[in-house]
Amino acid sequence: MRTISWKRGLVVTVDQTKLPEKFVYLKLKTPKEIAEAIKNMKIRGAPLLGAAAALALAQTAYKSKPKTKKDLLEKLEKTSNLIKSTRPTAVNLFNSIDLVLDEAKKYEGAVKEFKDFVVKKCLEIVDMDAQINRMLSLKGAELIVDGDKILTHCNAGELATVQYGTALGVIKAAFRQGKKIQVVATETRPLLQGARLTAFELKKEKIPFILITDNMVGWVMQKGMISKVVVGADRILMSGHVINKIGTYSIAVLAKHHGIPFYVAAPISTIDQKSRVEEVIIEERKPEEILRFCGCKVAPKNTKVYNPAFDITPPEFITGIITEKGVIKPTSEELNKVLAV
Ligand code: MRU
Repeated sequence: MRTISWKRGLVVTVDQTKLPEKFVYLKLKTPKEIAEAIKNMKIRGAPLLGAAAALALAQTAYKSKPKTKKDLLEKLEKTSNLIKSTRPTAVNLFNSIDLVLDEAKKYEGAVKEFKDFVVKKCLEIVDMDAQINRMLSLKGAELIVDGDKILTHCNAGELATVQYGTALGVIKAAFRQGKKIQVVATETRPLLQGARLTAFELKKEKIPFILITDNMVGWVMQKGMISKVVVGADRILMSGHVINKIGTYSIAVLAKHHGIPFYVAAPISTIDQKSRVEEVIIEERKPEEILRFCGCKVAPKNTKVYNPAFDITPPEFITGIITEKGVIKPTSEELNKVLAV
């Protein structure tokens, strides 16, 4: 299944806030609608955000009637700013915008072909994500053995990407190879991406799994119910720090304490080559996400809330990073190596 697709200027994707109850397609006509869908979590997951950002630029080019190259470049810049203002943490969103803008600025052909050139570049980013995740999943599956009990957090499946998924892609590839595995999925408070989306995908694939609440991780590790952890990433720094869904750091610390290998599966487009750890913006979301649970109030009125959507796991807790170019250690040397190939 493709989570996002392009139909002559229309962006078609799944409304992730409706799952698992309803499988509803959204038809987004403008970059503004895409930006709203990102803010409201209808579109989410780092690689999918990268694809959605590229498609917002594709819509801008597709609908434009530029007289000069500058005309369209200005429109692309405007869309870029709009999309960049939606969510600050997943670097894929920023990386795909920068990639398209760089290519567009370098274009030297005729003005009448410029918009087609931009649309083509954007669609290439979307197609590449699907191919890359497949490669990454197969590389990661080599690490999985019969009898593995794999814990995953949040949703790093096909719903978080254009196709296949990253962490869940690894799990699915291993299962399709006939490996006997069992998955433990965390519910992932406050927005329940694990319960709503990962459980949905695992059930669809008929992969044996159990769902736990986030505060059960230590206990299930202590009881020997986990042999490996595989999670996705929203941003990987050159220092080897991994930014992912809130709760990832706690899982990594617990995994180290229990001697359980902790893997991060992410495409190279998730690497942030510029930022230092103190420069990363961790998105803070609205208090209502914590004050309410499935629409019901769960805390007294005016309760103060802290609601960071992501956390940062230092490299010493990470056994390996699974990329489309192979499994590497979380060091700048190894990250530089995969970036150079
Ligand atoms: O807030 P979300 O649902 O966009 O957060 C998603 C995650 O943290 C995923 O683990 C990450 O984006 C990797 S998805 C392949």
